[in-house]
Amino acid sequence: MKRTSHISELREIIAIEKSRGRRIALIPTMGYLHRGHLALVEQAKQRGALIVLSIFVNPLQFGPNEDYTSYPRDLEKDAHLVETAGVDVLFHPTSEEMYPLPMVTYVEVGQLDAVLCGANRPGHFRGVATVVSKLFHIVQPDLAFFGQKDYQQYLIIRRMVGDLNLPIEVCPVPIVRDFDGLALSSRNVFLTSEQRQEALILSQSLNEAEKLLRAGERSARVLETRIKEKITNESQGVIDYVEVREAQNLSEVTRIENPVLVALAVRFGSTRLIDNKVMEVNPLV
Ligand code: PAF
Repeated sequence: MKRTSHISELREIIAIEKSRGRRIALIPTMGYLHRGHLALVEQAKQRGALIVLSIFVNPLQFGPNEDYTSYPRDLEKDAHLVETAGVDVLFHPTSEEMYPLPMVTYVEVGQLDAVLCGANRPGHFRGVATVVSKLFHIVQPDLAFFGQKDYQQYLIIRRMVGDLNLPIEVCPVPIVRDFDGLALSSRNVFLTSEQRQEALILSQSLNEAEKLLRAGERSARVLETRIKEKITNESQGVIDYVEVREAQNLSEVTRIENPVLVALAVRFGSTRLIDNKVMEVNPLV
């Protein structure tokens, strides 16, 4: 595996590979990697492209009172993990390399960024869309892989790619869960063992909502209320949001007729966790 923290060196590596006719797959991450990230690598490997994985904790997507400085980091452990997993190039720039000057140019994906996490974390998706757009310009990938735990982020990047005519296939990868249902996240490391146990309520309440839907419930508000009640009654989690929205475009839903995204964000102590499930009225299985 090659590794570099320099944009110019990465561009040289990619230019050589492209001149050999190789397709390029990009996996953007913020590091502290887990099996969820490795699932992205596995999907990328199946496409036969050169795999570039980036690790960059992007200051632009953290609010002033958020966990940018305490966000977990372990570059050497990550490097070992991705080398073993079959990544070809690891790109781990510094903030100075990515942002040599204070940014005055941003990418904003309207509407989609105004709801769910966007409403709770002002400026977050502007930071995400901007850094992903920079990475797309640096790497010029043919394919880019994003986990569906950040479903809204995936939709925003997909829309950005469409709106800006970027020749990139955006590939979603399903959520990877721990044995007991907790969605894998780099932030899980901050949970105490009690909080980790309580956090199981997220996947459990999503499963319960899906059962209700399958039993014939079609009211988005009823599903939201049931999830909120379960979280509030059975844990000490503090709810940021629990919302049912159209899975295609995050628009509001009253009566569920099309596939919906049931998404939630809940705080356990100072750790904010997100989870979601896409649910269909008439699933094939
Ligand atoms: O999902 C993440 O880890 C980040 O938001 C991303 C896409 C790497 C951009 O910083």
